[in-house]
Amino acid sequence: MNKQELKKWVSSQPKVELHLHIEGSLEPELMIELAEKHNVKLPYKSIEEVRAAYNFQDLQSFLDLYYLGASVLIDEDDFYQLMWCYLCQCKADNVVHAEIMFDPQTHTERGIDFSIFMAGFKRAMDQAKQEWGQSCLLIMSFLRHLSEKSAIDTLEAATPHLGDIVAVGLDSAEMGNPPEKFSKVFEIAKNLGLKRVAHAGEEGPPSYVWGALNTLNVHRIDHGVRSIEDPNLIKFLVSSQHPLTVCPLSNTKLKVFEHMHQHNILELLKLGLLVTVNADDPSYFGGYLNDNYHALIDNLPIDQVQLKQLLKNGFYASFLPEKKVDFWLQKLQ
Ligand code: HPA
Ligand code: ZN
Repeated sequence: MNKQELKKWVSSQPKVELHLHIEGSLEPELMIELAEKHNVKLPYKSIEEVRAAYNFQDLQSFLDLYYLGASVLIDEDDFYQLMWCYLCQCKADNVVHAEIMFDPQTHTERGIDFSIFMAGFKRAMDQAKQEWGQSCLLIMSFLRHLSEKSAIDTLEAATPHLGDIVAVGLDSAEMGNPPEKFSKVFEIAKNLGLKRVAHAGEEGPPSYVWGALNTLNVHRIDHGVRSIEDPNLIKFLVSSQHPLTVCPLSNTKLKVFEHMHQHNILELLKLGLLVTVNADDPSYFGGYLNDNYHALIDNLPIDQVQLKQLLKNGFYASFLPEKKVDFWLQKLQ
């Protein structure tokens, strides 16, 4: 198959998405519409100006705009629309199952209650399930630049909604905020029966990946591409098969790799790690899940066998029950 055929083929296959921040799927069109609706002042006059601002040097320069963008999300209907747009994109991309992160503190810190965003998310998720059988679940992520006390308070505030939340995660500014800072809240989450994931080894060193594995007892590492710097960590990840949720377009937009042809995902795959492909913050990084696969096909010497392994890995790495995983693996051509 040539590159064009590979792209067409991968687009047609059923996929899962495991690393997606719902706030990072806020498209400039909706951002401007909601800013006008709520009279929120943004430093942009047009959709083009919003897009032009998405020129990042590193993770922090992105986070500054990501939190600014999220400030237009205020009422239940805003959160519904945000989730609905993403789920429609899932349908278009053949994403048959999505494990979707949200950042409650980004909203509660602005005085928006859990019941507001949870109701909006749930309404969209229920509708997508009813209309085309969309499978999805929620991961509540703590902001690591805030204190552990704030994360514990957030977990407590989530109590009435824990039936709708499958896992906790850890995101935001990585450097200087190691996993160990959140050992207590992850222990509480574990005791509540919640699964655990954490961003680590995106900008942070391999020791942060070790910290997420050993101290937070995570099921998956989000990003984790810097694991390659520590041979013992690679050996561990190959034998434990802890998944890495890799996000190619994110990594190049945030300059973790200067260019896509320098991305190490194929190397990690060849070493035997359970790597998966994901979009992270698609509106900010230039594309949804199929776009991420297409970027790999365009820039790396990746073949159909390797692409199929990445697709399969997504299902293996998911929190889907074994029966559902088997069902979808049989659908892969
Ligand atoms: N890294 C850390 N925090 C984030 C990200 C990311 O890729 N996306 C949204 N919050
Ligand atoms: Zn992320």
